Amino acid sequence: MASNRPIHTARATTAIAAIALSLSLAACGETAGDAPAEGETAATEPAADLDIVKVRHDNFEEIGDAFKAIRGELEKGSPEFAVIQTNAQIIDTNAQKVSGHFPEGTGPASGADTEALDAIWEKPAEFTAAHEKLTAASATMLAAANSGEAAAVGEAVKELGGACKNCHDQFREKDD
Ligand code: HEC
Repeated sequence: MASNRPIHTARATTAIAAIALSLSLAACGETAGDAPAEGETAATEPAADLDIVKVRHDNFEEIGDAFKAIRGELEKGSPEFAVIQTNAQIIDTNAQKVSGHFPEGTGPASGADTEALDAIWEKPAEFTAAHEKLTAASATMLAAANSGEAAAVGEAVKELGGACKNCHDQFREKDD
């Protein structure tokens, strides 16, 4: 009987300690919850706009891979025109999309991981001209691929390569 009392007291003490602990945890939880909320508010606005940066990177990567595949075929003794055609089609389709991938506010000042230069938005007529050069070259490539003539594809590779370089020289950060 006498041994029940200390146990009871101990339980009561534990219960009080538990309440105190849960109150202090609740206070911590609230503080922890506030910090990310502030971060979210700061990041919310640009996040939606900047999704396009990944889209344009992927689009250019596909163009780059397809261009490489065409040059790879040409280096073979007997190029496979089915492969050249498939890749010329990818380049032509993706090339048309480029002009829609550079909305205002997606340049270097946006904080996006981008190599796009401010010149894109400062010289819109020149950027449009560089884009038109690309779509003209990709159309030439498509026609050459469909012609089945390696010499025509070779010429189209030069024109296309020139269109890439023309734009990169003016509008993309130099990374090497
Ligand atoms: C009208 C301008 C323009 C033309 C034409 C152009 N590019 Fe680009 N390219 C850019 C810009 C600007 C970037 C940087 C985009 C960024 O970092 O947001 C870029 C980036 C790239 C990248 C890196 C992927 C990336 O976004 O980081 C590759 C690969 C690429 N281009 C390949 C090509 C190839 C191959 C051609 C020609 C067949 C070509 N580009 C034609 C403007 C152009």
